[in-house]
Amino acid sequence: MDESFYLMHNSCGAPVMSRFIRRASVCAEAFNPDEDDEEKEQRVTHPKTDQQRQRLQEACRDILLFKNLDPEQFSQVLDAMFEKSFEAGEHIIDQDDDGDNFYVIERGTFDICMRVDGVEKIVGAYDNKGSFGELALMYNTPRAATIIATSPGALWCLDRLTFRRIIVKNNALKRRLYEEFIQSLPLLTSLELSERMKVVDVLSSKAFSDREQIIAQGDLADCFYIVESGQVRIILKRSRTRKDQDDNEEVEIASCSRGQYFGELALVTNKPRAASAYAVGPVKCLVMDIQAFERLLGPCMDIMKRNIANYEEQLVALFDSSHTDTEEKAP
Ligand code: CMP
Repeated sequence: MDESFYLMHNSCGAPVMSRFIRRASVCAEAFNPDEDDEEKEQRVTHPKTDQQRQRLQEACRDILLFKNLDPEQFSQVLDAMFEKSFEAGEHIIDQDDDGDNFYVIERGTFDICMRVDGVEKIVGAYDNKGSFGELALMYNTPRAATIIATSPGALWCLDRLTFRRIIVKNNALKRRLYEEFIQSLPLLTSLELSERMKVVDVLSSKAFSDREQIIAQGDLADCFYIVESGQVRIILKRSRTRKDQDDNEEVEIASCSRGQYFGELALVTNKPRAASAYAVGPVKCLVMDIQAFERLLGPCMDIMKRNIANYEEQLVALFDSSHTDTEEKAP
């Protein structure tokens, strides 16, 4: 694809150069991957050095949208991706524009800005990992947010046609696969059907083996989990000092099975993980990243907050007053 320079304006009205390609309007296209003719589109290949391919593979390793692809689809996606560097202040995406590419971060930091009631606000940020720009390509809608680089760095770009041919088609299959399960989740009862389907679009399935640690207490949080199959133990480790003696105490504070969720607390409170989670036997979880969690699960916050209040009651019941000298704070 051709690379062009465009003079644009940032949120403060100052002119900035963007090297990212603008497409003519695509928003009128219907979203129906089953009827898409894009299967017949030519495969896109951007040659890469071994070192580039290695860096690309590393950057894409944890991209949830790629997790459900089979090896052939994943390899086609990697072939089609191309690298772009950018400077601090550059607009990668502008709200309301048409969607051209999906972006995976190789390195660099970005602000996510949105106009809310006519006022531009920073609603989030990306810090050297993750991806963005999928919404306009998935749903044929204008860009939902502005993404501005806050450091120099590099991105991997996937063109819109390849994204639709592979990722959107794959999502249609995923919807069929998970529709029933998602409809049955009490957590999502406040969502409309179309909103639940958007939840399915951003979920990816991840398998864990017996005793594998899924989240670690104290870690920074970037994902939310729904148990698809198996059992997950939530363990709280508390250290307490008793007469020159350090004691570590591990207590199982919850157990989650199919349809239950965990990992929401740190995302809601913006704090490190308050407890660890371990697989009991083979486990499969549906995983959602923090940006999708914040964007899609706002209406479910009441149910989550009720459960968070229950955690506190549970902990008070579990740890009596003799444990008041704990160093770790209970969630
Ligand atoms: P898209 O609408 O294609 O372009 C802007 C991108 O910003 C969007 O896809 C998402 O990938 C990303 N984004 C991050 N946070 C949000 C948010 N809260 N609302 C909308 N888009 C967001």
